[in-house]
Amino acid sequence: MKIIKISAIGSTNDYLKKQAKTIPLEDETVVQTLHQTQGKGQMGASWHFDIGKSLAFSIFKQTDGLPISNQFWVNFAVSLGVKKGLDLLGIPKVSIKWPNDILADGKKVCGILVENQFQKGYIEHSIIGIGINVNNTSFPEFPQASSLLLTTGVHFSLDEVFEKVLQAVLSELHQVKVSNPEAYKKQYESYLYKIGVVCAFEDIERKMFQGIIVGVSNNGLLLVKLQDNTVKEYRLKEIKMLY
Ligand code: BTN
Repeated sequence: MKIIKISAIGSTNDYLKKQAKTIPLEDETVVQTLHQTQGKGQMGASWHFDIGKSLAFSIFKQTDGLPISNQFWVNFAVSLGVKKGLDLLGIPKVSIKWPNDILADGKKVCGILVENQFQKGYIEHSIIGIGINVNNTSFPEFPQASSLLLTTGVHFSLDEVFEKVLQAVLSELHQVKVSNPEAYKKQYESYLYKIGVVCAFEDIERKMFQGIIVGVSNNGLLLVKLQDNTVKEYRLKEIKMLY
């Protein structure tokens, strides 16, 4: 593992993406910044960063020929790693909101952005970006966001959170080609936010409906049991959970 610390950068994911195009990167190269100025979120969103309070880092991970159809295993592993790292730090009620938002007591404290580089049906490498709200005190534009400080009342050392979460994520990534994928998926599902309870969702046409999350498919789609008892698979862009 190689850790690069940068005082300020647009996006740690973009930095690693650019580097990977120009030089061969060592597996598990990690870049962390003290000030991320143009953080990227999922689906083209931007990602909020407060200097001295937020944590932003990205990991370059060689995936050793994981087939594209299994790309969601990287997301499973990273989500599980962050969840376990936050558990070790004593954060209460950590859950995973599908596909990979990490919540503490029902509010988002961490976002994950996995960007895969594909070649001939396989993932060549993944760039895994992790943003954690550590000591942030307010999110005026994001009512569903929180921080480790707001959840626990405790100030955390950014270095300690970085080390614990990074180690936990790497340890999960080492198991990506798991011998028992069904058990691994079950573990991910066991931490899913609102699994098994009736929830309100919005579909791609912004129509509201009710359903129950029953799990995820092997390719990472969300499985929702609808009111007529059928189970439907949803991709990320096709469904939004209304908290
Ligand atoms: C989300 O929308 O929930 C994903 C947020 C991911 C943010 C992290 S911060 C480190 C890395 N660099 C980025 O530009 N984004 C990710």
